Amino acid sequence: MSKPRIAVVFGSDSDWPVMQECVQQLRQFGEEPVIEIMSAHRTPARVHEFARSARDEGLEVIIAAAGLAAALAGTVAANTCLPVIGVPLASGTLQGIDSLLSTVQMPPGVPVASVGIGPAGARNAALLAIQIVALHDERLHTAYREFKAKQAKSVEEKNRALAKQLTG
Ligand code: RP5
Repeated sequence: MSKPRIAVVFGSDSDWPVMQECVQQLRQFGEEPVIEIMSAHRTPARVHEFARSARDEGLEVIIAAAGLAAALAGTVAANTCLPVIGVPLASGTLQGIDSLLSTVQMPPGVPVASVGIGPAGARNAALLAIQIVALHDERLHTAYREFKAKQAKSVEEKNRALAKQLTG
C-alpha cells in the first residue's frame, strides 16, 4: 500500500459523523487518508508536531476541521508549507458561523482554503484535496473528470424525468 497523501484531522470525536463524509469521498477516489483527532486548544503540542512533520511523512494536503472557536486549520497552516483546507463545523449555538469566521479570516501570509460549513464543506474539502493531488497524478485526474461527467449526467437525467412529469 502506498503512503497516504492526504490527512483528515478534526478537533473532537464529536466531529467524526460529519468528517466521515469527507473520508468516504476520498475513498471513492481510492485515497486512504491519515485520520486523527487533534485540537489546537486541547492538544496543541500534537498539532504542532503533526503539522511540522507532515511533509516529511509524505503528506501533500491537510484537511483540518473544527467547530466553535475553530483554530485547528489555522494552527496547522502556521506550522506547515503544505496546503491546508479548513472545514468549519456547526458544533455550538452559533451553528457554525463562529467556526466559519475563525477558519476563513486568516491573517495575510498564512492561507487556509476554507470550504462551507458542515457536510457539504466536508465533501468539498475532499474534492478540493483530490484536485490538488491530481495536478501531478494522471490516474486521479482521470477519475476526477469522470466524477464531474457522472455528476452532470445525473442532472440531465433528473431534467428528463422532470420534463416527463410536467408533460405527462
Ligand atoms: C471543537 O469543539 C471541536 O472541533 C468540536 O467541534 C467542538 C466541540 O468539541 P467536544 O466538546 O464535542 O469535544 O474544538
